Amino acid sequence: MNEPDDQHADWNARREAATPRGVGVMCRFYADRADNAEIWDLQGRRYIDFAGGIGVLNTGHRHPRIMEAVQAQMARFTHTAYQIVPYTSYVELAEQINARAPGDFRKKTALFTTGAEAVENAVKIARSATRRPAIIAFGSAFHGRTLLGMALTGKVVPYKVGFGPFPADVYHAPYPNALRGITSEDALAGIRALFKTAVDPHSVAAFIIEPVQGEGGFNICPPEFMRALRALCDDYGILLIADEVQTGFGRSGRIFAMEHYAVAPDLIAMAKSLAGGFPLSAVCGRAEIMDAPAPGGLGGTYAGHPLAVAAALEVLQVMDEEDLLSRGRQLGERLAARLRQLAPEVPELADVRALGAMVGAEFNEPGSHAPSPAFARRVQALALESGLLLLTCGAEGNVIRFLFPLTITDALMDEALDILSQALRGQPAL
Ligand SMILES: Cc1ncc(COP(=O)(O)O)c(C=O)c1O
Repeated sequence: MNEPDDQHADWNARREAATPRGVGVMCRFYADRADNAEIWDLQGRRYIDFAGGIGVLNTGHRHPRIMEAVQAQMARFTHTAYQIVPYTSYVELAEQINARAPGDFRKKTALFTTGAEAVENAVKIARSATRRPAIIAFGSAFHGRTLLGMALTGKVVPYKVGFGPFPADVYHAPYPNALRGITSEDALAGIRALFKTAVDPHSVAAFIIEPVQGEGGFNICPPEFMRALRALCDDYGILLIADEVQTGFGRSGRIFAMEHYAVAPDLIAMAKSLAGGFPLSAVCGRAEIMDAPAPGGLGGTYAGHPLAVAAALEVLQVMDEEDLLSRGRQLGERLAARLRQLAPEVPELADVRALGAMVGAEFNEPGSHAPSPAFARRVQALALESGLLLLTCGAEGNVIRFLFPLTITDALMDEALDILSQALRGQPAL
């Protein structure tokens, strides 16, 4: 990435000496301050942020209303441990999530801190409710870096290498992927094969699926596959867990991406943009399933931290009052249209996928089906040189994903699209 100046080079040397290489760092510069869709480094260089802290900032950096809500909470108390001395904001947020989550049934919500923790707890709850051990996840899935998160994740390098053994009774089925020739029927056949060769469906507690795969390449689950999965769950008494850690809170053009589907999950794991930059996650689900674990079975010292809960309550209001769902859909359409317009000039561009503002561009070697991670990396590097922060994803690293704040201004979006267009043409910004 960008060649660092002396000040940043000095910090890079200190970082390499003080922190392990396993915490891989993408940029060679350090954040000094940030506002809405922009980050400035220590030298005052400005970057347009299309990474959003990996999908955390749908409401932008330091949204003034969110900052105000957190400051007001900070003046009252910052930590009591909800399980010891509860606070009303936790209950209020649970009520709001229950009301907004898809599914026409009574729901309950428990709060945690990270996405992986939400995923782990969704699995704990599913096992406790069904009294069954097995979990089926999908190829290319990403569910976090804890031991169970890694076991559920369907990508070996870099997430799983050298970290085994993993928790048992986790299986993987193929995720539909039209571009790679995996139809919904193929993916269902994969599940049927698992039921024959690897695991008795009557011992499966849950399927866990990202409605749009995040790290896996912004692959959108086809509606017919989600319907068939729900039907399989109903046939065998298996629960459906939606991992909405990356898709949730406006990215897909709805609060939850599962709202795009005709069927509801039994449990939803959520995090990231839930709390506008503060660490908070949640599991929401059918009330009777959520009540399966006994008192004391769920929670954590910091779970549902008051500052993050105050932020999340404000995030939901900001989403409504600033109409960020339709804004996100408009921005997503604008970006996807620009990418498609550029297709004749960019033979590597194999696919543009979009669900609301969840937009991904996939690159192949020209005239072939071979993935081109090198092209994706080149576009990312050129964009960064011109001050636009982009992330890659995909099983092969050949997809660029766009995680801009939904609060980005039109002027900044235009500037970013111009930089992106030039980078796709193989040129620095004009
Ligand atoms: C779909 C999905 N699940 C789980 C996680 C893990 O979340 P965290 O990094 O907060 O533990 C992520 C993180 O990127 C994710 O995208």
